[in-house]
Amino acid sequence: MKIKSAEFLVSNSRVDQCPVNSILEFAFIGRSNVGKSSLINMLANNKSLAKISSTPGKTRLINHFLINDEWYLVDLPGYGYARASKEDRREFGKLITRYIAERENLICLYVLIDCRHKPLKTDLEFIHWLGSNQVPFSLVFTKTDKVSSSVLESNLSAYKKELSKTWENLPPIILSSAKTGLGRDEILDHISEIISGLKL
Ligand code: GTP
Ligand code: MG
Repeated sequence: MKIKSAEFLVSNSRVDQCPVNSILEFAFIGRSNVGKSSLINMLANNKSLAKISSTPGKTRLINHFLINDEWYLVDLPGYGYARASKEDRREFGKLITRYIAERENLICLYVLIDCRHKPLKTDLEFIHWLGSNQVPFSLVFTKTDKVSSSVLESNLSAYKKELSKTWENLPPIILSSAKTGLGRDEILDHISEIISGLKL
């Protein structure tokens, strides 16, 4: 799929204030600092579309971007921010639960995972929660430019092994790098296939 236009629409702290839900929506979620905003910019080919920061916890709101005047990309706040207060974590939990329950136009959630780490409890818990709530999702392993192929292989297979304990069928897994552009075509093709499938 070609990106012809990408524009920032609106930021919201409340799900009921998000823009009209008659447009298909694809959202990015994952731990703080995993590279959600960077990946959105990479997909849109626009370095200044979503705000990026080396300090975790940059994205605090639900951000909607309109792509090709046809579908939404959504940048969500990160979870698992070590310095977040209990209250912040509870708020995040409520926001995400509501977001998933209320956005009927949400077609696929991309759960981003930093490929530099062995499976992390916060990621596994979130993935299991999605699975038990029948939320369609794909996994995107980010920052692949930062590790050797052997570390990448080893971390990936550790994840697959961990997920196989619960699921017979693993979700789609995509490798990405906001730096090299790896994963761009795959993610855009994935979105485009889903959109064409729904139009049939
Ligand atoms: P929050 O909004 O805080 O939840 O973070 P985020 O998940 O949106 O992460 P963000 O895109 O702001 O990136 C965090 C840091 O990681 C920034 O310093 C980025 O430049 C860096 N980064 C993100 N993706 C990549 C990548 O693929 N490769 C490299 N080398 N750095 C990356
Ligand atoms: Mg962000």
